[in-house]
Amino acid sequence: MSEEHKSELERIFDIAKNDESLITIVATVDTGFEWQAIDECREKILQNLRVFKDRGKICFNIPIDKYDKVEQLKSVDNVYILADINYHSYNKNDKESCFQLLRDTLSSNKSQLDKSINAWKKFTKFPGKVFPSIKEYERVIDDYKAVKEEKRKGPEEETVRGRKKRGKDPSSSKETDILSYRVSCERTGVHAFESQEVAVKLGGEFNDLYHWIVDLTDYQLEILYKISYAETLILLRVTTESMHRRNIAFFGPTTLRATVCYNLLRLAKPKPGEIIIDPMCGGGSIPIEATKEFPLNYIIGGDNHEKAMERSRMNFAMLPTAYKSDLIQWNLERLPFKDSSVDAFVTDMPFGKRMGSMSNNRVQYKKYLLELGRVVRMKYGRLVLLTYDRRSITIALQAATDLFKVKKTLSISMGGLNAAAYVLKRTNLAYDSFLTRVITLVTPKARSSSSSSDKSE
Ligand SMILES: C[S@@+](CC[C@H](N)C(=O)[O-])C[C@H]1O[C@@H](n2cnc3c(N)ncnc32)[C@H](O)[C@@H]1O
Repeated sequence: MSEEHKSELERIFDIAKNDESLITIVATVDTGFEWQAIDECREKILQNLRVFKDRGKICFNIPIDKYDKVEQLKSVDNVYILADINYHSYNKNDKESCFQLLRDTLSSNKSQLDKSINAWKKFTKFPGKVFPSIKEYERVIDDYKAVKEEKRKGPEEETVRGRKKRGKDPSSSKETDILSYRVSCERTGVHAFESQEVAVKLGGEFNDLYHWIVDLTDYQLEILYKISYAETLILLRVTTESMHRRNIAFFGPTTLRATVCYNLLRLAKPKPGEIIIDPMCGGGSIPIEATKEFPLNYIIGGDNHEKAMERSRMNFAMLPTAYKSDLIQWNLERLPFKDSSVDAFVTDMPFGKRMGSMSNNRVQYKKYLLELGRVVRMKYGRLVLLTYDRRSITIALQAATDLFKVKKTLSISMGGLNAAAYVLKRTNLAYDSFLTRVITLVTPKARSSSSSSDKSE
């Protein structure tokens, strides 16, 4: 393909392909927070990092020996190595020709694949063999199958927090282990083939090429074919578990993912020394992420529910290091703070879908916003509010219109639900003056209606 017709992702991939020291990373992000993730990458990896952004993912190159910088990212969920990218004209009626196309590109790009596999070994600290000979494979495969069969007959598979474990941690393998793997496929668009067929056909092809052990459950490496219409990505999964799984041991009905907490906190742009409060903290996911990632801030969490406070305390107590935060039971409608005293509030509001009710929100959101408007610092204070109930927040914002300026509204997609994150900045209007303004706006009306009723008496 000519240079001018290449996608930005291809251009980024080409740079890494032509430089032995670079590799292309694809990281998934909660849809809507891509810019927060890009900002974090530029802050932690390289100031002018070239990043390709798409819905729910970002892609960039890193030096292979700098993967520790990617491990420091807190805004991203899963990390993959981009091993190949192609744009295929898939025949819509002949699936065999499609599989042949995929096989051909795989073997023609083997050197880039080898480089990606070496990078994967380094990033995951897999001590085993990634390029075993056919003899080494044949020596272990029968024993491997026998052990698997025994395991299959044994007790139920291990679960992690109620979920079946996907794959196993490559770093816990032995030096003598031959890599176990599986191929999966995610597909968008109309094709002659099914995703499962790609997984099976290409799974066999990897076995022929590398003599690895196919294992659909206890795999160390997952190879993901991501096919979107013509675009075909081959991704090697680096993270065994999504990076949002951190911090929380005791889950509640609406526990927020740590990556979302981090992205919300970033939107508040905390400066050293500032007070950051989550006034409806539930099990403490935002305060915990805040104490860990913004250690120069004073963090407070509160909730009106005793059980939520208890969960927050238990989650804080489970952290490996003694992270500190004040946890206070309160009603957000009457916070125990002076006017204009808190730098930022970051919270995940109750909503109709999983908690509370939409009609309740109409009334409550207004009360919450007015109280936050009283307490947050005039001129500098910020609110970052996550909600699924845009209508209630819009009504509340109308009531508190002189107290806040809407700086940003992000549409967020979380677990298939559409949410929105609002970034509000406090205006320079004192809360007392706001109240006086509201009263003077209301009073003439009240007066005129009472005088007209006087007349009719
Ligand atoms: C969406 S949940 C927050 C979940 C939290 N981010 C977590 O990860 O666990 C909303 C929380 O608001 C709390 N809440 C509702 N009304 C409140 C009020 N008036 N004052 C304080 N907290 C309130 C609820 O008890 C609930 O824990």
